[in-house]
Amino acid sequence: MIEGARFREVMASFPGGVVILTAFGDDHQPRGLTVSAFCAASLDPPLALVCIDKKSNTLPAVQHTGGFTANILAAGREQLARRMATKLSDKFGGIAWHRPESKIGGPVLKDDTAAYAVCTLRDTMEAGDHWILIGLVTEGHHVEGVTPMVFTRRAYS
Ligand SMILES: Cc1cc2nc3c(=O)[nH]c(=O)nc-3n(C[C@H](O)[C@H](O)[C@H](O)COP(=O)(O)O)c2cc1C
Repeated sequence: MIEGARFREVMASFPGGVVILTAFGDDHQPRGLTVSAFCAASLDPPLALVCIDKKSNTLPAVQHTGGFTANILAAGREQLARRMATKLSDKFGGIAWHRPESKIGGPVLKDDTAAYAVCTLRDTMEAGDHWILIGLVTEGHHVEGVTPMVFTRRAYS
């Protein structure tokens, strides 16, 4: 089996976008974390998948509401990506967000996204120390002219 540090180096060479996955907790407060493991899984039906660490404090909120919002970050939002990658209890102070049409989704970060997708949780699969969450995309929007953030080899561009 490949050694952990080498596995990370290999995977970090695959460029990807940066998503802030959000959901509302049972206290109705917004929760969220930074995620790079996000991709489309099916066109018909429209499915997206995301891989979340079993230790994530955002997971109970996703399980509670049965859904989440994938906020695809715009370029230049490194500070937000770093903040959402912490374990702070209130990560949303001073951040503009609104509720999606669907009650199942999490906060939409309107000023910071190139696009967003609201997902209803459809399946959960165990994958080592992560869960693979498969969501049915019920709502979404992209902002014409806004460049998405790219993350590769631990650098934002
Ligand atoms: C660029 C970047 C990508 C990340 N991708 C993931 C990911 O795909 N899945 C994951 O579980 N954590 C990922 N993380 C780590 C989480 O954001 C971090 O563990 C966070 O503190 C979890 O917050 P929570 O416990 O409040 O949910 C990533 C962090 C960064 C900076």
